[in-house]
Amino acid sequence: MLELAGVSKSFGGLAVIRDLDLHVDDREILSVIGPNGAGKTTLFNLVTGVVAPDAGAIRLDGQDLAGRPAHEIAQAGISRTFQSIRLFLNMTVLENVMAATYAHTGARMWQSVLRTPAARREEAAVRAQAAEHLAFFGTRLQGYRWDQPAYSLSYANRRRLEIARAMATRPRVLLLDEPAAGMNPAETHEITELIARLRDEVGHTIAVIEHDMHVVEGISDRVVALDHGVKIAEGSFDEVAADTRVVEAYLGLRTAERK
Ligand SMILES: Nc1ncnc2c1ncn2[C@@H]1O[C@H](COP(=O)(O)OP(=O)(O)O)[C@@H](O)[C@H]1O
Ligand SMILES: [Mg+2]
Repeated sequence: MLELAGVSKSFGGLAVIRDLDLHVDDREILSVIGPNGAGKTTLFNLVTGVVAPDAGAIRLDGQDLAGRPAHEIAQAGISRTFQSIRLFLNMTVLENVMAATYAHTGARMWQSVLRTPAARREEAAVRAQAAEHLAFFGTRLQGYRWDQPAYSLSYANRRRLEIARAMATRPRVLLLDEPAAGMNPAETHEITELIARLRDEVGHTIAVIEHDMHVVEGISDRVVALDHGVKIAEGSFDEVAADTRVVEAYLGLRTAERK
């Protein structure tokens, strides 16, 4: 569904992604692992049009998106969450999800200001959709929480709300950048199950960047390991986890951190 071929990106002479080939298949969960600075977030930035590749093709269902502006890529069906959470903190939980839907459908917000009957119908539809997306998170983001400002949410709930916003655009491919970062073990377990449900119940195609190897083991159909922008291993979790280059990339990092 999503395919990268020969993608490269440098920042000021530093090669961050090098000649990368990668694909994500329909209804698959692909995990992208690698030490800090390996280029994982840059990979997502390339796919979502935050930065343009220096070379290579990025195709969604065969349509080349490389270098296209971010809003066009979002429109084409790629949605993401961020390593550092990005929410409208002063808007309510429900409004955050509604805003994502409006941004995607290009619904004319000024109409809702005029309160025309058409705008009211549309707003009701968007509200119902947002409620449906939030219902996926069960009691975590339900009921009274809908009308609370996002700033009142716990950290884990902010991460959940980010996922709800990404779902709201009904993407072809969902990119999750470290969804379990900063979560405690119970929350991490819960987010692992949630990501699996996104595939199994909603039918999402997902690429996820994750550091926690328990999460990676729990959800991955396939794993790709990056180091210094190069794909050093690809395969099942067991294959990649046992790969000498992967072990060395992580051990090398730990050794460097100890110094
Ligand atoms: N916009 C940018 N400008 C300059 N350097 C960047 C930019 N984005 C990322 N980098 C650099 O690219 C490298 C990879 O970063 P990143 O993709 O965030 O790694 P990861 O997500 O794997 O930890 C780092 O050295 C980082 O400093
Ligand atoms: Mg990152």
